[in-house]
Amino acid sequence: MSSQSLSRFLIEAHRTKGNINADLRLLLEVVARACKSIAIATGKGALGNVLGNAGSTNIQGEAQKKLDVLSNEILLEANEWGGHLAALASEEMDQPHPIPHRYPKGNYLLVFDPLDGSSNIDVNVSVGTIFSVLECPEGVTEPDAGCFLQPGSRQVAAGYTVYGPSTVLVLTLGDGVHQFTLDREVGAFVLTRSDILIPQDTSEFAINMSNHRYWEAPVRRYVDEMLAGKDGPRGRDFNMRWVASMVADVHRILTRGGIFMYPMDDKCRAQGGKLRLLYEANPMAFIVEQAGGAASTGHQRMLDVQPTALHQRVPVILGSKNEVERVVGYHRES
Ligand code: AHG
Ligand code: MN
Ligand code: MN
Repeated sequence: MSSQSLSRFLIEAHRTKGNINADLRLLLEVVARACKSIAIATGKGALGNVLGNAGSTNIQGEAQKKLDVLSNEILLEANEWGGHLAALASEEMDQPHPIPHRYPKGNYLLVFDPLDGSSNIDVNVSVGTIFSVLECPEGVTEPDAGCFLQPGSRQVAAGYTVYGPSTVLVLTLGDGVHQFTLDREVGAFVLTRSDILIPQDTSEFAINMSNHRYWEAPVRRYVDEMLAGKDGPRGRDFNMRWVASMVADVHRILTRGGIFMYPMDDKCRAQGGKLRLLYEANPMAFIVEQAGGAASTGHQRMLDVQPTALHQRVPVILGSKNEVERVVGYHRES
């Protein structure tokens, strides 16, 4: 079978399914191209002088890594001139980035986590980029942060890349989930898995266990039951993985199933959770649902959450459907 590039995949989606127009196609190609540049920068490691802290903090008070700042710049520069966007927003910027007046404007809003898992950069463990595409509210020419406050169910596309042993890009246009692997010699993303489905059941969970004593009762019950293994109420053993890069943990779930949780806990309660709704939880929830999994805050379907702030945080529980439903059930019972 001949290989199918991302470009061809998008053109054929446009032609045959009509679920993508020329602007959205350009947008996705531009994001993919930017991700190739980030993959190259990430891959240079110490040789590229890209490791370590940038010496600045972002709006969330987190120390920015050089690669956080560089990845953000790469995505901004790639996307601002094409005429397909009305504005961009990012984890690394306080307010949305307007399209400079010298360029034409389009109808889409792009919001991203330019580099996810940045605590892993310096130790050479997989990191990634997460992005979400929304439509700009009709009639708005100068979108502000309020324009981005749309529930995840309104996303028109979402994706992530993992910069790991290979670079992969996973994408949904609301019609299944597809994976592309970067052919480094050719410089193109090539379709390597289509219509990905997450197994409904799993024996693998991902959570930062060091927060155990801070969790709420339903999550503690769920995890303790898994830890009890075949001697406990679940009657079987479970395995644990925690990469601490959401992209890598979610990618494992898309590959072999599993459940990922960054639940509410006493440490992050004041902020509403740890992970960010608009550029971490929502795009991943869209992808996971499109792959037959489920995503919840514990109390509500993630994609139904009405955002109230650009950098809003939420508790996240996502992955294999039957396990997510079990945790949600424990929340309901408590
Ligand atoms: P970011 O690097 O974009 O700030 O995101 C890091 C997130 C997420 O990728 C990961 O799942 C989680 O933080 C890791 O948290 P712990 O450090 O508590 O393990
Ligand atoms: Mn992140
Ligand atoms: Mn980040």
